[in-house]
Amino acid sequence: KKANVYLDRNFTVSEVDERIFGSFIEHLGRAVYTGIYQPDHQTADENGFREDVLELIKEIDPPIIRYPGGNFVSGYNWEDGVGPVEDRPNRLELAWRTVETNEVGTNEFMQWAEKAGTDVMMAVNLGTRGIDAARNYLEYCNHPGGSYYSDLRKEHGREEPYNIKTWCLGNEMDGPWQIGHKTADEYGRLALETAKVMKGLDPDIELVVSGSSNRQMPTFADWEATVLEHTYEHIDYISLHQYFRNDEDDIKNFLAQTESLDDFIHSVVSICDYIKAKKNSDKTVNLSFDEWNVWYHSDDADKKREPWQVAPPQLEDIYNFEDALVVGLTLITLLKHADRVKIANQAQLVNVIAPIMTSEDGGSWRQTIFYPYYHASKFGRGTVLDSRVTSPTYDSKDFKDVDLLDQVTIFDEDKDELTIFAVNRDTESALELDTQLNGFEDYQVVEHIVLENEDLKAVNTEENPNNVKPHSNGSSEVKGNKLTAELPKLSWNVIRLT
Ligand code: AHR
Repeated sequence: KKANVYLDRNFTVSEVDERIFGSFIEHLGRAVYTGIYQPDHQTADENGFREDVLELIKEIDPPIIRYPGGNFVSGYNWEDGVGPVEDRPNRLELAWRTVETNEVGTNEFMQWAEKAGTDVMMAVNLGTRGIDAARNYLEYCNHPGGSYYSDLRKEHGREEPYNIKTWCLGNEMDGPWQIGHKTADEYGRLALETAKVMKGLDPDIELVVSGSSNRQMPTFADWEATVLEHTYEHIDYISLHQYFRNDEDDIKNFLAQTESLDDFIHSVVSICDYIKAKKNSDKTVNLSFDEWNVWYHSDDADKKREPWQVAPPQLEDIYNFEDALVVGLTLITLLKHADRVKIANQAQLVNVIAPIMTSEDGGSWRQTIFYPYYHASKFGRGTVLDSRVTSPTYDSKDFKDVDLLDQVTIFDEDKDELTIFAVNRDTESALELDTQLNGFEDYQVVEHIVLENEDLKAVNTEENPNNVKPHSNGSSEVKGNKLTAELPKLSWNVIRLT
């Protein structure tokens, strides 16, 4: 079977906003405690953060990390997490039914993020709280000094403001499970008034308003339209969330699910532009896909867990090879929409539905899904080229005419590098990929990385951390201005040219 791609150096979609390679750490399960933070671990630094985990995070190099939730943020009192640690309260955390010790709070996390070389995308609580707490928190984080909360930050040992640029106005406020769930009108009004106060305090910030929790929500589309009607001129992005699952163990359908992601993005872009037209606005609201991943393996274990523990294992999905393909397909889809998707966060980073796992008394290792995320973040910065694709197709249970090939090509002009990310969805055979490279006449293949595995259910564990890992023996060559590559059946490919 054969697929054709036509590329031209002059035809581009958009520059990639590097925040599309963002991640997410929530106060949930073992993400913070025994994930990034574990003072008694042999690799802990002077602040109690694990260096072994930090090294793995630095490999991925996420440019931005969303924090502190998630559902957690809708019940969070930010004041609990600042000031002397010995004075901080234990709280019953109602989103995940645990005990939050508040040992790690804003200053600890921000300091860690600086060391990790990443920005933070901060969320405010619009569930149990509102304008007042959001204003005070922003003042604490971003105001230089001479006011109550900025001086409190200094008292807590941090002289300079953090200047956090990106702020989320609550989380999944459309979901009935959310603490302080609201109707679209209730949330839209609150988000608007909070946005006005926050931007009044710091006009340099950017705000993300909460969109639907997923494409299947019964209020989808009406929610976006109503919330944007209220907030359009005062916010910068609207959020999207989506998690994929393979309950029926149907690989063809599982791999096709990213088609629905494409449709989801198109729909939200259309709603944003409809409100723009209706308001006769010059402003364009873009998309923040601030939660995405595969999530379902840990559902049963989570149902059995006793409540009110400190940092119990929660949402600890052990990812297999087929999940890595879906993560690769998701990254390809997000990148194809780089003109409107400016921020995206894989949910999450450590232990909780994560590419990185730790054991409390031992090490840390890369899950299968680590690799496509790492490759995309490392080689996917630049400009997305507008490719024309013809590919053989297949039908699955829920999707028709699904391309066997999904690909996106990024041109990094500064480094003079071209990178093709491609997935072959075919369960039976390799796919020949012919790519016409107009304007890249002297380019040659530097590397063809492949992630493939005979066993769709193969996983990495602490004992066997390299069971699923990529190799660089992919087959591709350039002749004239044509690249010919062989994409093995069910494979993630990174073809790098210069
Ligand atoms: O990422 C896990 C959870 O998924 C988040 O807390 C919530 O926002 C979403 O439902």
